Amino acid sequence: MELKIYKDYEALSEAASDEMIHAIKNNPKAVICMASGDSPRLTAGLFVEKLLQSNIDYSQFTLVALDEWIGVPPENPGSCYYFFRQYIFEPLKLSPDQTVFFNALANDLKAECKKMDNTITARGGIDLMLVGIGMNGHIGFNEPGVSENLYAHVVPLDEVTQSVGQKYFQQSMVLKEGITLGFQHLKESRKVILIANGSRKAGIIKKTLQNEISMQLPATIMRKHSNSIIMIDEAAAAELAD
Ligand code: F6R
Repeated sequence: MELKIYKDYEALSEAASDEMIHAIKNNPKAVICMASGDSPRLTAGLFVEKLLQSNIDYSQFTLVALDEWIGVPPENPGSCYYFFRQYIFEPLKLSPDQTVFFNALANDLKAECKKMDNTITARGGIDLMLVGIGMNGHIGFNEPGVSENLYAHVVPLDEVTQSVGQKYFQQSMVLKEGITLGFQHLKESRKVILIANGSRKAGIIKKTLQNEISMQLPATIMRKHSNSIIMIDEAAAAELAD
């Protein structure tokens, strides 16, 4: 695992978007899995801007949405799907075949997980995973105490996730369960990048880098991956020297 510290959110997002571009340049059929949320918002915007300005063929790559809130419809601006539609799918006019995401309204969520696993396998696995970190150290909805051997699964959300997650919604929401790719996907991904910015992430970043590796702090799994980078800005790095 490598640690990279950038001056600010803009510089961090520039670097993360370059990694995404690089993955597609390297392999036009790249499978990129990405988290939604505040951390990757600018990365997504820059990724799209750069692709549109380039002559890179982006008609064959796949974008996999990392997770979704169960019971939240895709037209809700707080859903993960909405993020991808707004920032990536529509601006790039991706074909439906290029977009892979969970249907969190499906009656059979187990089948939904299986479908996701099969799709990823059929496309040759994930080339690049770009994830964020929750205030409780989660990645995707892999909450504290998760098994690291799971593929896609449904999960009861940690209390921290239930309350922090309200920030994405205009009205208060009941957020009890999520559906997410698992750490088996992360471990098998050819490259994993975790991004974090801002002083509110400084404490959890310090623990992620300095505590013992344990699924009580899921993001410590980054330190077990042989091709992973934790990219943070100076504000998120503020407690590292303490
Ligand atoms: C969202 C996701 C979550 C977020 C994490 C950080 O798709 O997978 O794990 O990455 O909660 O969220 P932000 O970036 O909003 O601080």
